[in-house]
Amino acid sequence: MDNSPASSDMMHISDAEFHSIRDLVYQHFGIALTEQKKGLVVGRLQKILKQHKFNSFKEYYDHLVADKSKAAITELANQITTNHTFFFREIEHFDFFKSDVLPWMVNEHKANRNNDLRIWCAAASSGEEPYTIIITLLEHFGMDYKNWNCGLLATDVSEKALVAALRGVYDQTRLQGVPTPIINKYFKKNNDGYEIAEKVKKEVTLRKFNLMNETLPFKKPFDCIWCRNVMIYFDAPTKHALVNRMYKHTVNGGYLLIGHSETLARDQTPWKYIKPAVYRKEE
Ligand SMILES: C[S@@+](CC[C@H](N)C(=O)[O-])C[C@H]1O[C@@H](n2cnc3c(N)ncnc32)[C@H](O)[C@@H]1O
Repeated sequence: MDNSPASSDMMHISDAEFHSIRDLVYQHFGIALTEQKKGLVVGRLQKILKQHKFNSFKEYYDHLVADKSKAAITELANQITTNHTFFFREIEHFDFFKSDVLPWMVNEHKANRNNDLRIWCAAASSGEEPYTIIITLLEHFGMDYKNWNCGLLATDVSEKALVAALRGVYDQTRLQGVPTPIINKYFKKNNDGYEIAEKVKKEVTLRKFNLMNETLPFKKPFDCIWCRNVMIYFDAPTKHALVNRMYKHTVNGGYLLIGHSETLARDQTPWKYIKPAVYRKEE
């Protein structure tokens, strides 16, 4: 069902208004909105304009710029980001994680007598991706899981998505493609849908973090970073600046997993291409 307002109800956006909002979105979130996205912007921001009784996009823009509390920017992030995601998305990554990444991580950490596996899910949306990573770890380690500190950092810029992740309750339709034994083992059916099991949830630390932040405020470097299906919204300079910041925050031998429709330019990044959507730090 299409819930977007009928086009006659849509507030008009002038080119100048669109350009000022587009520039603000780019500056804050790195999201590059092309002219073709004008309709999408109007559709998504309509609700905010109506709710706050702004008479034009210019009024809304002025409020965004003037609002010192940053509540308006937070609301903009909630509306303008695309949070589409699902469990076990791009299954090849989970297979590769089990076959190559985890055995390497285990060896490294055993050699260093350190059980802290450091994994970051950098655009976690409503939780399906980080919860799938934890399920994969639990399945991989079995009884040995308790001997590893697998806790996962999951971040996103959208508070709305993070609230959904924290709730961890999903409609049955969202579990399509998840094997029944996994559903039985890691979800609890209640009146609202399927709730992710506490043993999975407690392993994920959810935090708000904007990937445009010039510094990554994490104490220790990561073994594996999942940054999937977010860089499609960024332009090439933004994307490469981001992965290069991530590179500095990854241990030697560590991995970067990106979406299968995303690529990195060889001459723009030190990440070594391993195979589609898989990169590694090799120094
Ligand atoms: C399409 S979802 C992808 C979710 C998941 N990684 C996956 O592959 O299924 C993109 C996510 O990136 C987040 N995002 C967009 N811009 C961001 C930014 N500047 N910083 C952090 N997260 C951002 C959005 O809020 C959204 O939840």
